[in-house]
Amino acid sequence: MTKAFIFDLDGVIVDTAKFHFLAWKNLAESLDISFTEKENEQLKGVSRVRSLEKILEWGNVSITEDKFNELMAEKNEEYLSYVDQMNAKDILPGVLETLKYLKHNNHLIALGSASKNARLILDKVGLTAYFEAIVDGNEVTKAKPDPEVFLMGCQFLKVDPNQAIVFEDSQAGIKAANAAHMTSVGIGSVDILSESDFIFNDFTEIDEQTIHALMNFNK
Ligand code: BG6
Ligand code: MG
Repeated sequence: MTKAFIFDLDGVIVDTAKFHFLAWKNLAESLDISFTEKENEQLKGVSRVRSLEKILEWGNVSITEDKFNELMAEKNEEYLSYVDQMNAKDILPGVLETLKYLKHNNHLIALGSASKNARLILDKVGLTAYFEAIVDGNEVTKAKPDPEVFLMGCQFLKVDPNQAIVFEDSQAGIKAANAAHMTSVGIGSVDILSESDFIFNDFTEIDEQTIHALMNFNK
């Protein structure tokens, strides 16, 4: 059976989660809404529009549509100013080795990200060529925890969803993978990712043997 490996981007391949955090925190505080790591966790994997809606809900703040669009643009501008500084050094530990191993062994690799900046970031860090399919925030209509993004990845790769292995750092992403009966692999802390089938701190813990274990795992 052909297997597909689907990677989330932010917080899995690159540490852009910290840039999203900084930009959202500045935006929230400009509206007098408190924003800590706790709130940020709930925005991981969540689209830009939905993230701003959630922040406004938390602060009980309502704004006009124009102001909403203005804030979205400002947030993205600040975020992109951080992204602009990125290069291959920003690839998280062990990720490149894993991608090389998978590629070398002819495994199918896709990106499944909520971000509209995904292609730009992959280009900046020089990883675009590893991906047979890229599904990002420009293609999907339903945000994680809806499995649409990962199901589209499987469609592009012509692989059954139950043959897919998903790497994710967000609760929403793990829920999405589980909903599609894919093998869910959490990258991060067990406190946050307890619903995943496997959990690792980072990709340095994922060696050849581990990849085989992931491939042989049946839900
Ligand atoms: C996800 C991030 O990958 O992409 C979220 O985890 C982010 O934090 C979302 O809001 C949308 O990203 P962008 O780059 O389109 O604003
Ligand atoms: Mg993520």
